[in-house]
Amino acid sequence: MLLEVPKEVLVISKTDTKGRITYANEVFVAFAEYSETELLGSAHSIIRHEDMPKAIFKIIWQQIQNKEEAFALVINKTKKKNSYWVYTNVTPSLDNRGNIIGYFSVRIRPSFESIEKIKPIYKKMLEIEATQSVDKSLQYLLDICAQKGVTYNEFIISI
Ligand SMILES: Cc1cc2nc3c(=O)[nH]c(=O)nc-3n(C[C@H](O)[C@H](O)[C@H](O)COP(=O)(O)O)c2cc1C
Repeated sequence: MLLEVPKEVLVISKTDTKGRITYANEVFVAFAEYSETELLGSAHSIIRHEDMPKAIFKIIWQQIQNKEEAFALVINKTKKKNSYWVYTNVTPSLDNRGNIIGYFSVRIRPSFESIEKIKPIYKKMLEIEATQSVDKSLQYLLDICAQKGVTYNEFIISI
């Protein structure tokens, strides 16, 4: 079943530098359909949905490890195999010396239009990942951004 994040609700999680969940707000726990105990310490990929191209996580990780924020339209899978779309912002958390000590992610309900626009792009990326490679899939996405004269983040913000 496709679940919907209500309007004006924030779905929040934090991870350590390896992407293991260190914090989940109540809404995140409720949407994940796992208990807080199951979530804390688990790899964030515990809620990964197979409709998500690998290249999206690759660019997110590249950007946050580079101390930049990353945006993404993400479909997640719950413990009961339900799914939900979110518009996500991920940022690195830095200590006072500028070292990355973890990551922070805030998600809201995406617009219907943005989901409809990203779906065919993800479909094509998944095809490329199945037949060619993750790098080619990322290149396909970056070519779309380049044609529009925007960065990946700007593209996601704009759709
Ligand atoms: C703060 C933060 C939040 C994340 N949130 C999600 C998320 O909601 N859903 C998801 O599938 N991956 C999320 N990821 C990415 C996962 O760490 C992971 O890269 C992704 O699930 C793909 O799994 P894999 O790298 O094992 O293939 C997040 C990563 C970070 C650092």
